[in-house]
Amino acid sequence: MNMNSDLFSELKVRQKRILESLGNDVLILPAGAPPSGVGLFLQADDFHYLTGFPEEGAVAVFDPTQESENVVLFVKEKNQQEEVWQGFTIGVRKAGERFPADKVYNVQLLELKLKERLKGRTVYYKSVQNQRQNAVIDKLLDQEGIETTDVGGPFDELLEMRVIKSAYELEQMRRAIDITGEAHHACMRAGKSARFEYQLEAEFEYACKTRGVRHFAFGSIVAAGAHATCQHYVENNGPIGKDELVLIDAGAKWNNYCADLTRTFPTSGKFTPVQRDLYEIVLASEKAGVEAVAPGIRLMDLHIISARVLADGLKSLGILHGSTDGIIESNAYRDFWPGALCHSLGLYVHDVMPPLFRGLDAERKLEPGMVITVEPGFYSQDFNYQISEEFKHIGIRIEDDVLVTEDGHENLSIATVKEVADVEAMVQSGAEK
Ligand code: GLY
Ligand code: MN
Repeated sequence: MNMNSDLFSELKVRQKRILESLGNDVLILPAGAPPSGVGLFLQADDFHYLTGFPEEGAVAVFDPTQESENVVLFVKEKNQQEEVWQGFTIGVRKAGERFPADKVYNVQLLELKLKERLKGRTVYYKSVQNQRQNAVIDKLLDQEGIETTDVGGPFDELLEMRVIKSAYELEQMRRAIDITGEAHHACMRAGKSARFEYQLEAEFEYACKTRGVRHFAFGSIVAAGAHATCQHYVENNGPIGKDELVLIDAGAKWNNYCADLTRTFPTSGKFTPVQRDLYEIVLASEKAGVEAVAPGIRLMDLHIISARVLADGLKSLGILHGSTDGIIESNAYRDFWPGALCHSLGLYVHDVMPPLFRGLDAERKLEPGMVITVEPGFYSQDFNYQISEEFKHIGIRIEDDVLVTEDGHENLSIATVKEVADVEAMVQSGAEK
């Protein structure tokens, strides 16, 4: 299969930016490591982002000082014995025809080809755990007495590039998000008949795979009842009760790009009054966060906007007390929502972000082209002894994927239902088996 021509040209542009960021330095970028045992390989993010080459065992070298070999790919040569056991490979000739590189060599020539090039140079290199070329690269660097660095230079440039999504990238993300939304709807429709959490996990995967998905953004979270109070619950082996809420946080990948959506629904097809009150509060908090997404705002500002709405709602139910300012300043709301509202989304589910975006006091502001999640929640466990029993052991999260645009935002997952009436109708539309 040949590479999409838009992607081919885009890869060339990305490579040019990396070469420019290198000055006279060199970047050695290893491909992802093979899965342990028998498993499906997915290319490492940065390697995919700069080469599009899908196999393990490869290495890319970016060197602006080499006229005709600025970008060199070292790949596995076709080998009958390996193909009998370890899968089919593209090989040197076809890799040269299909992927943007000035030159493609057999990876067995890595040492020979790099030996002269690296002498006296500044080398940017981050080894990838269990990558079979590490030993070759490390030996070479050691022999030549070359110190490497795994921060700054091209690595900073990669962070800047990856955080702003191109039209091509958004196309992939829209597809991942659309399919993920349809799979969430399928799970709601299956809600009445599912007996165990893993049955809904299967429903989610089935809906995605029948739409062409091969990889998932992360291990699906399918949490019924009190399991939903653990934000990263992944066992998915519990029973599903008749009047319980089920929280599903899951996402497909499409051409390596992630979706990450959470919906919470009542398996009966009707929220109980308590479930509904709490759900409406999380929904209002989520909508306030989504509405506020725009260039120029900081992630922490968004977090506080959502937290205030959540706090006001929890006050109205007698779960929190005092002034909203006081609740925010003292972090009292964190007893029920210990998470962060947003993270970046892209090739990785908690996608890379330049340093000034990270952490609670991050100063950097949102810019058009960024894609973030908005995901407030309510989680009450036994340690929340101060609340009445009826509000305990309930977990609710609602999560959308949002694009920052020039004049505000676009909710990329708007088609996935979240209003109370729509969620109930979706569950009720499923057949009871
Ligand atoms: N979807 C899991 C998370 O965002 O942490
Ligand atoms: Mn998320």
